[in-house]
Amino acid sequence: MKKQWWHDKVAYQIYPKSFCDSNGDGIGDIQGIISKLDYLKELGVDIIWLSPCYLSPLADQGYDIADYYQIDPRFGTMDDMDELIAEAKKRNMFIVMDLVVNHCSDEHEWFRKACEDPDGEYGKFFYIEKAKDGKLPCNWRSYFGGPVWEKLPGHEDRYYLHVFHKKQPDLNWENPRVRDEIYNMINWWLDRGLAGFRIDAIINIKKALPFKDYPADREDGLSSVHNMLHEAVGVGQFLGEMRDRTFAPHQAFTVGEVFNEKEEELPDFIGDNGYFSTMFDFAETVFGNDRQGWHKSLDITPDDYRNCVFATQKKVENIGFISNIIENHDEPRGVSRYIPAGEACPASKKLLAALYFLLRGLPWIYQGQEIGMENTTFSSIDEVDDIASIDNYKVALAAGVSEKEALHYVEKYGRDNARTPFQWDASANAGFTEGKPWLKVNPNYVSINLKSQQEDPDSLYHFYRKLISLRRNPAYQKTLIYGKLIPYLQDYHNVMAYFRKDEEQTLLIIGNYQRQEQTLPLPAPCKKLILSNLPQADIQGDQVHMAGYQVLVLELEG
Ligand code: GLC
Ligand code: CA
Repeated sequence: MKKQWWHDKVAYQIYPKSFCDSNGDGIGDIQGIISKLDYLKELGVDIIWLSPCYLSPLADQGYDIADYYQIDPRFGTMDDMDELIAEAKKRNMFIVMDLVVNHCSDEHEWFRKACEDPDGEYGKFFYIEKAKDGKLPCNWRSYFGGPVWEKLPGHEDRYYLHVFHKKQPDLNWENPRVRDEIYNMINWWLDRGLAGFRIDAIINIKKALPFKDYPADREDGLSSVHNMLHEAVGVGQFLGEMRDRTFAPHQAFTVGEVFNEKEEELPDFIGDNGYFSTMFDFAETVFGNDRQGWHKSLDITPDDYRNCVFATQKKVENIGFISNIIENHDEPRGVSRYIPAGEACPASKKLLAALYFLLRGLPWIYQGQEIGMENTTFSSIDEVDDIASIDNYKVALAAGVSEKEALHYVEKYGRDNARTPFQWDASANAGFTEGKPWLKVNPNYVSINLKSQQEDPDSLYHFYRKLISLRRNPAYQKTLIYGKLIPYLQDYHNVMAYFRKDEEQTLLIIGNYQRQEQTLPLPAPCKKLILSNLPQADIQGDQVHMAGYQVLVLELEG
């Protein structure tokens, strides 16, 4: 594997709308981000990914772009963006934007022109079809519910395709003109000084054509888009072309949002000269998902979590660098999901932090994760903004689930959990805004907030800083970045442990992933205790006595 400049970095995701509001309108913005760059630097972050802040009606919170060359006025101006890139550079940090090119907004000029003249040039930018004998062109279900086909405004007999929301028409990647437009736009941004992109929903750009029905997988008679994607071949041609014409000449850093990848294609995606620098590991994210909806999803246990993570590590070990996360803007909070219900506490949050952060790959922190922000609660569905939550709520009700229980699933899996404003301090609105926040602040901000954790050397925030300095410490850096990952005690219950190892040293990361204490064997004597999440560590010869949710990082003899 070729070494790359970003391998030893630490990455951080910002959801601009909820990070920091500089002007009191209740919406986070680019000036707010600039004001927190020193904070991020102090934490130890190098690469910052911004969720979209382009011009957008925000039907899907910016993942519906009306103009790729403009910043939405709610987030700021192009000058603000240039300032952010320059301020980051001064601090030796890198800005990465979101590249949302499976679809645009129905308010994009291209789509407006397509509506004016569906047979003209811009009609071919989208998938526009006529209904056949009053039937939709196919029975795919959109990710946000309902059919993927919507009537083309102004045309009774025509429909356009949207695999996400109806305000997100899919761009037709088969059309070389569309690809040219996209590549020009990418290059325009990279020339402006961006370090690269996080690439949204990218696997969807290749459709299995011609359109046809797949077996219905719910009572609505529709079929999940995944069934189509499973059959689609040839996404690599588009991705390779995009790399060659944009990212490669700029040596840009890219991270793909890739679900449903085929294992044999991994080298093409993230091997040397892959389509992307890296991609996210979603094995644990999708664990327990059920095609019927959130109300049928299964909880993930500590053993499942470990097995998912290790399976991915194994798949990529000789291929490339995976990106490790415990949460993002589409997921519930990691500490509310990967720690058994009712057991999230400073010790268990630190355990989860150490276990995922020291894996082989690029570690990502999602805003608020570093202070252990948790899922929120809603008093009714009217408080919920997220379109995926609203759809899943309806699906649950239609399946006979009570309103109360349906809301419970929204609290458990909904995307708003990650989108509540960042909890800066214990002042009004958690210090996020002086106005009225666009989405309610999690009421626990009084106890969970950055300011109090900065003042407490034992806090999760300081623990994250320790993990980051450990990954940077010249004594361990090479092993933690390039060393092999070898699972240990894999058949134990509620234990997650692994070696990071190279010719020079063996490190052991060992976690007792449960509330009860347990004694575990050590394969070799401990040479040095590098890190513990608790004040004491009880290591005796070839065994270690671990308190509940204790995690240790050890250097072993030999
Ligand atoms: C990705 C984004 C998500 C968005 C979807 C459509 O999954 O992360 O937030 O809704 O793509 O763009
Ligand atoms: Ca604002």
